[in-house]
Amino acid sequence: MAMQPVNEDLLQQIEDYIEHLFVPPDAALEQNLKDAEAAGLPAIAVAPDQGRLIYILAKIAGTKRILEIGTLGGYSTTLLARALPQNGKLVTLEMSPAHAVVARKNLDRAGVGELVEIRVGRAGDTLDKMIAAGEEPFDLVFIDADKTGYVGYLHQVLQLSHSGTVILGDNLIRHGDILQANPPDEMAAGVKAFNALIATHPRLESILLPILKGKVDGMSISRVK
Ligand code: SAH
Ligand code: DHB
Ligand code: MG
Repeated sequence: MAMQPVNEDLLQQIEDYIEHLFVPPDAALEQNLKDAEAAGLPAIAVAPDQGRLIYILAKIAGTKRILEIGTLGGYSTTLLARALPQNGKLVTLEMSPAHAVVARKNLDRAGVGELVEIRVGRAGDTLDKMIAAGEEPFDLVFIDADKTGYVGYLHQVLQLSHSGTVILGDNLIRHGDILQANPPDEMAAGVKAFNALIATHPRLESILLPILKGKVDGMSISRVK
């Protein structure tokens, strides 16, 4: 399928407009991004407006237990943890020990460190262990790690969910790559399969939202029946 041209300047202006109006300045998050960059982490955290969205969704859902797959420097982790009550808990899964070190510092500095446990290892393995251990279900799950793993993560996360659990998936539009019958890379193929799965899964009600971050990406919101 031939892709249509996109007015990227207009998209950027809209993104900036939303951010300036709705996202308060945040010293802890600005320092988070600076330290992540200084440590050589890729600049792939959620955009500020999307961060605001996941924070508000977690608050609306009244979440006490949150699971995140893909920590990076703890930017989205900080926003999700801030939505928790004082006795809440966030478990975040990260493959890279180096990323986990940066995230730990950032979370402690942001004042949410005591709510957050970082589990280092491949997320698929960690999730298997959590299921085998009969770990208490989570109220909200944010899937944001390797895109080829999303379908497997969804099946695992459903075993750590209850009726009403909110499942969010990041990077699901990839500037339209998912429109192609044969997506151009395995990451686009992975999220395209994820989209089809959450759209039709008998245990889920789902929607996919476009998200602006320079280009057009997307995030899904699913509720477990
Ligand atoms: N949620 C973060 C961004 C995560 S980026 C934010 O918005 O701030 C994706 C992260 O997933 C990276 O840190 C990468 O190291 C990690 N990752 C990639 N493959 C993984 C795997 N198989 N298991 C666990 N983490 C993985
Ligand atoms: C990219 C962005 C992400 O949010 C992510 O989780 C992984 C990769 C990217 O832009 O490459
Ligand atoms: Mg992402």
